[in-house]
Amino acid sequence: MSDSHKRGPKPVWPSVERRSQGERRVERQGSALRRAGPDDLEVRTPGPMPRLERRSGRDRRDDSSWQAVPLEITIATEADLAEALVAAATIARARAHARYSGFKVGAALETADGDVITGCNIENATYGLTLCAERVALVKALSDGRDVFTRIVIVADTESPTPPCGPCRQLLWEYCGDITVILANLEQTTATLRLSDLLPMPFDARLLE
Ligand code: THU
Repeated sequence: MSDSHKRGPKPVWPSVERRSQGERRVERQGSALRRAGPDDLEVRTPGPMPRLERRSGRDRRDDSSWQAVPLEITIATEADLAEALVAAATIARARAHARYSGFKVGAALETADGDVITGCNIENATYGLTLCAERVALVKALSDGRDVFTRIVIVADTESPTPPCGPCRQLLWEYCGDITVILANLEQTTATLRLSDLLPMPFDARLLE
């Protein structure tokens, strides 16, 4: 199958004309134009740029000609941001590799500075090597150097909330602490809780001190 669509637009070369006395040829080598001496070629460049018309009115560099315009700033609310997180997790869910269970899950992890890192479940024929969506999002984030998190959204196509599995709760607790966990299906948010609600008596580093 042709993959020419991946290459983008073809480069546009300047048009060249051989002068009568010159015998050297202009050839393409791969995609490069072989360099020819200045005597050999006459390079036709595009004609002069069309003259730009001066905008009517006063000189734009004159400060007094600028007018104050009311600026509309939209402040995203927590709810808007949560909606965006749910949307990101839903999109990630569509990328799930869930051929064995058919149960697709998407996750979106929000960092303290507002970035969103997504994950989906990735299954394997051994079953046991399956990676949950939450874990994929978490390791992606950690390996990118992100380490302060605020919320995670988990999306699955179930009527009632799909909470993270036990091992994912443990991992989230280790690296995210008591973050907000938003559970959603394809229509709506079904539950918002704290990780400590899901893992009330965690085993963590404090016990190893
Ligand atoms: N799964 C997740 O991705 N996250 C969870 O919290 C629960 C389960 C995945 C793993 C597996 O691919 C499928 O859902 C069925 O268990």
